[in-house]
Parts: sequence; structure tokens; C-alpha cells
Amino acid sequence: MIKYIAALKVLETQLDILSDDFKYIKDYNPIEHIKTRIKSADSIIDKLERKNLDFTIDNIENNIFDIVGARIICSFETDVYDLIDVIKKSSIIKVIKEKDYIKNPKDSGYRSYHLIVEIPVELINDTYKVKAEIQIRTMAMDLWASLEHKIKYKSKKIIDDYVNITFKQSSELLYELDNTMDNILNKES
Ligand code: GTP
Ligand code: MG
Repeated sequence: MIKYIAALKVLETQLDILSDDFKYIKDYNPIEHIKTRIKSADSIIDKLERKNLDFTIDNIENNIFDIVGARIICSFETDVYDLIDVIKKSSIIKVIKEKDYIKNPKDSGYRSYHLIVEIPVELINDTYKVKAEIQIRTMAMDLWASLEHKIKYKSKKIIDDYVNITFKQSSELLYELDNTMDNILNKES
């Protein structure tokens, strides 16, 4: 676990530094807040089961890239893309894969930008590149994802079409809100 804990610390620190620098250079911070976590053992086991894989170190390292996770919530959609540009320039946080679920939302209605990154970790006897997942999204996208997760993932009841359709419509409604806010921002600046 030590390398994952170390990677989380490096990632948190670098994101904090970027956040401070935004305030300093631009007098504006696109980041509303950042949440980080280490995936619990139970969730790792669940995910391996879903992928039909045994619980081995190799399987974990080669298939689960979100043991270290950060979620960055921005105010505006343009902030999400500005922040991604900055992260991509980092030599510490190395982007190895990206998924734009904002331009290409999931069928569920889920919108977010995902980066799979590598974080350098230096321990006493070894150095590692630890994979981590960074999810970047607006407050509106996060509101939707949080509620959907609570209802769909946590609910033991069968989710019917009505719930699915309602979530999809809500996602579009919230997307309109994001666009409206971006338009206001463009007018003001
Ligand atoms: P897993 O879905 O985690 O097995 O891996 P994947 O490689 O398919 O990654 P993907 O980019 O699809 O999703 C990774 C994470 O995004 C999930 O663990 C969730 O946190 C989040 N996510 C993806 N789809 C949804 C969704 O429909 N609703 C919500 N609330 N979250 C989602
Ligand atoms: Mg998935």
C-alpha cells in the first residue's frame, strides 16, 4: 500500500501547487474543490470480480488504475479544459490516457473528463510509476454524478426505464445550465 499512499500525497501536493499558482498568476482559480481517495480493499476485490480476475498483485497492477483517485470540481466547463491543458504540461503528473465524457457523454448521461496518469514515487529501495485516475468536471456534472451514483449504485431496487430516462433528461438540463453559465462568463470577460 505504501506506494499508493505515497502517490496520493505526490498527486495531492502537485494539484495544490497548481491551484495556488492559478490564484497567483491569473487571480482566478478554476478549481472549486478537490477530493482524493485510495480505493478500499473491498472495492478493489469487487472490481476484479467484475472483470473476472483473481485477487493477485499482478492483476491489480495491470487492470486497476484508479486505486489512487482525485476528483477536481470546477466552476465552468471552460475551466475544466483550461485545467486539463495545465495538467498535460506537468512533468510530474504524466497523462497516459484520456476520456472526454463531456463531449461524448455515457449512455447513462454521465459527463466528466477522465485522465489516467502516472505519478512518480521514490521510496528507499525502489522507484515506481503509480497509475491514478483524475476525474475533472463542473459542479453541475458532479451534482448529477453524485445523485445518480447514490440512486443507481446504492439502491438495491431494480432501476426501471423511468429512472433511467429521468436521469438522462436531468443530465441534459444540467448541461444547458453549464452552457448558459459559460455564455454569461464569455459576455462578462
Ligand atoms: P470502471 O467503470 O471503473 O470499471 O472503469 P472504466 O475503465 O470503464 O472507467 P470509466 O471511465 O468508465 O469510469 C470510471 C469511473 O467513472 C467510475 O468508477 C465512476 O466513478 C465514474 N463513472 C463512470 N460512469 C458513470 C456513470 O454512469 N455514473 C456515475 N455516477 N459515475 C460514473
Ligand atoms: Mg466503467
